[in-house]
Amino acid sequence: MNFHGRHIISIADFNRAEILAVLRASRELAERPRPELLAKRQMATLFFEPSTRTRLSFEAAMHRCGGQVIGFSDAASSSTKKGESLADTIRMVEQYADVIVMRHPRDGSARLASSVSRVPVINGGDGANQHPSQTFLDLFTIASLFPQLERGEELKIAFAGDLKYGRTVHSLVTALGHFRVRLLLVAPDGLELPEHYLTEARAAGLEVDILPSLQDAVNQADVLYMTRLQEERFPDPLEFDHIKATYRITAAMLRSARPELRILHPLPRVGEIAPDVDATPHAHYFQQAGNGIPVRQALVGLVTGSLEAKS
Ligand code: CP
Repeated sequence: MNFHGRHIISIADFNRAEILAVLRASRELAERPRPELLAKRQMATLFFEPSTRTRLSFEAAMHRCGGQVIGFSDAASSSTKKGESLADTIRMVEQYADVIVMRHPRDGSARLASSVSRVPVINGGDGANQHPSQTFLDLFTIASLFPQLERGEELKIAFAGDLKYGRTVHSLVTALGHFRVRLLLVAPDGLELPEHYLTEARAAGLEVDILPSLQDAVNQADVLYMTRLQEERFPDPLEFDHIKATYRITAAMLRSARPELRILHPLPRVGEIAPDVDATPHAHYFQQAGNGIPVRQALVGLVTGSLEAKS
């Protein structure tokens, strides 16, 4: 198993053994930090779309392992503003860095970048398509909470909210095809999981239940993966306000939850998890975001050849 020089564009490019190897490497780094692991390595972070967690956790991951970071967090401050193509930008940046982390609003842009880059490209989110480093950290979080995931025992994982446009949902559903999972899906009309992800999940052997309400998901799930409704996609602001009010978890709703339920969210949240949930034992989204550090250290270590994958 060799990750050196590899791009990380879609979770679908990784088989089960490779996913488990990344989780293992992440776990080792979480338990035994390696302050020199990425010394002399340079990362470029090219963020054509806003980000807090992805960009900052990649950068913190580098700094904590002795690496350096260059980049931009606003496309308007780059030569894209002058009309430079993405391919030309990548051909420049590959001369300045050992690895490129890129977020871009267009589906497929990360694949395009990887096709012209001599250094590994890590997709930090491309449109509504994929967000594979988020998926690795989501799996790391689920596996640390529920070791039965890796033992092949069934877990019930509910996805709620905007399942149509949420790229973190798409990536994670694909990855869960390698595990024994029952998917519980609850989404507003028109924001259901696209059919091809459903077909792919069933073909991978996952059981899929479509639930009538968020409360059903709360009552049945081991993991509830909440997502933000993407306001910018709604044609009618009044419809958004109505759905937003119905897609909100409160501490009161958790009274009928199973004690082991853990709520995850890729964040940012914009009202779908009430602040009173934060103090309950079910809330785990901030710890989930923290797991971005060891997981992204592992990914960068593996693709730059600083870390060897163990089977
Ligand atoms: N989860 C996530 O991608 O967050 P950011 O948009 O803040 O990077």
